[in-house]
Amino acid sequence: MYYDKLKDFPPNFLWGAASAAYQVEGAYAEDGKGPSIWDTYAHTPGNTFKGTTGDVAIDHYHHMAEDVGLMAKLGLKAYRFSVAWSRVIPDGEGAVNPAGLDFYRRLIAELRKNGIEPVLTLYHWDLPQALQDKYGGWESRAVIPAFAKYCRTLFEAFGDSVKYWVTMNEQNVFTGMGYRWGNHPPKVQDVRRMYAANHIVNLANATAINLFHELVPSGLIGPSFGYGPVYPLTGDPNDVLAALNADDFNNNWWLDVYCRGEYPYFMRQQLTRAGLMPEVTDADDQLLKSAKPDFLGINYYHGGTVQQNRLEKPVQDAEQKDFSATDPYLMQPKGEQAQNPEVPMFNSVSNPYLQKTDWGWEIDPVGFRVALRQVYEKYRLPLFVTENGLGAKDELVDGQVNDDYRIAYLEDHVRTMKEAITDGVDLIGYCAWSFSDILSWLNGYRKRYGFVFVDRDDDSAKDLRRIPKKSFTWYHDLIQTNGAAIQPGK
Ligand code: BG6
Repeated sequence: MYYDKLKDFPPNFLWGAASAAYQVEGAYAEDGKGPSIWDTYAHTPGNTFKGTTGDVAIDHYHHMAEDVGLMAKLGLKAYRFSVAWSRVIPDGEGAVNPAGLDFYRRLIAELRKNGIEPVLTLYHWDLPQALQDKYGGWESRAVIPAFAKYCRTLFEAFGDSVKYWVTMNEQNVFTGMGYRWGNHPPKVQDVRRMYAANHIVNLANATAINLFHELVPSGLIGPSFGYGPVYPLTGDPNDVLAALNADDFNNNWWLDVYCRGEYPYFMRQQLTRAGLMPEVTDADDQLLKSAKPDFLGINYYHGGTVQQNRLEKPVQDAEQKDFSATDPYLMQPKGEQAQNPEVPMFNSVSNPYLQKTDWGWEIDPVGFRVALRQVYEKYRLPLFVTENGLGAKDELVDGQVNDDYRIAYLEDHVRTMKEAITDGVDLIGYCAWSFSDILSWLNGYRKRYGFVFVDRDDDSAKDLRRIPKKSFTWYHDLIQTNGAAIQPGK
């Protein structure tokens, strides 16, 4: 659909920005906070870029009032942040730490005072280390009541002052990185364990949603999912089928559970054949079916492109001579190896039509519209974009950061978002990632996303000065005019 003029953003649209506790707070062992799995992981040599940690991060814990002041200056209508579970309950399941709770109480009050809607994420990857040590973390159902207790504590403390709640941030990413690729804690590389842990996270998510609906009937809650549309590389029906598989594998495996309470049918068959399907009891089924999110948080950075997997349809041509005969999962030419070897359903490839960021992430604003349309069509829940942004190597030159490339990136994405609204998608808000520069989990402090430059680098916290970038003024003006100037692209 092409338009001469786009629909306005809704009058109460939540223009926001986002962050996560471990990436901004610092104060990692202050005021009674317990260690999280990210503290332990980042403190272990070799795990992160140049050994960077969130020990200080951008020290938001001590700069909170200043940061909220800048948010107000930016004109934010919403700020999405996460609570560090081990700041509130240091061992994950025992006594509440009043000082930890108080930090978030002050943050929420400061936001409200400045007319900024708090959007609270319950879990952005920093599981209390004590729960990892005692139970094996998300691999044990014992974590579910601990999570429920933590959620109850926050619902009771902030149910009156926070309307929008996010349960899990990018469950697909933290389970994949933590249990498949082994480059996030707990650093496991075992897909069977990944599917089992993921199922337990689903149960925790459903438990939290049901508890929320009981305790905070006036609020709204949903998970934030890292969504990417999947394109077939060509019109070859085999590639189209591979894209269908990848969509199940990358998206529906989570979204169907959140929204329909069940795992997608074909992929369930595939995992059962591969002996990887997690144990799902009747009680689990009932729990998953009973918990309905009020909205879906969508984190959008890029989609994916796939082609048929040659394992399912072995090639007959001369290329075959390049194949290794020893490893059944490496029977493909290099560069075409299945990225998900236990489920040979597709191969991920680079999209020849798309440019990439400094970090090799595809830049695909049209994919944003595709994503919003696909998810809304399928689940008909209000959508909230809880992350979208550009990671770049910003430079401070003469006290300024001219991040025109970020403005261009964001403007293109805001345009396709407005097109999606014109198409009919029910969108309640947009939180750019991120408000200020923060710690990028595996890329240290050189991969910057914020509207506010923070003067620190990988080697030193320097003076942590906050310096608004050029994009700060751009976003300010966009918010003031409710995106009125954004019109269809050429
Ligand atoms: C999302 C996460 O996956 O992407 C954020 O929710 C993260 O926490 C963001 O920072 C960008 O990822 P990265 O690796 O560029 O920092």
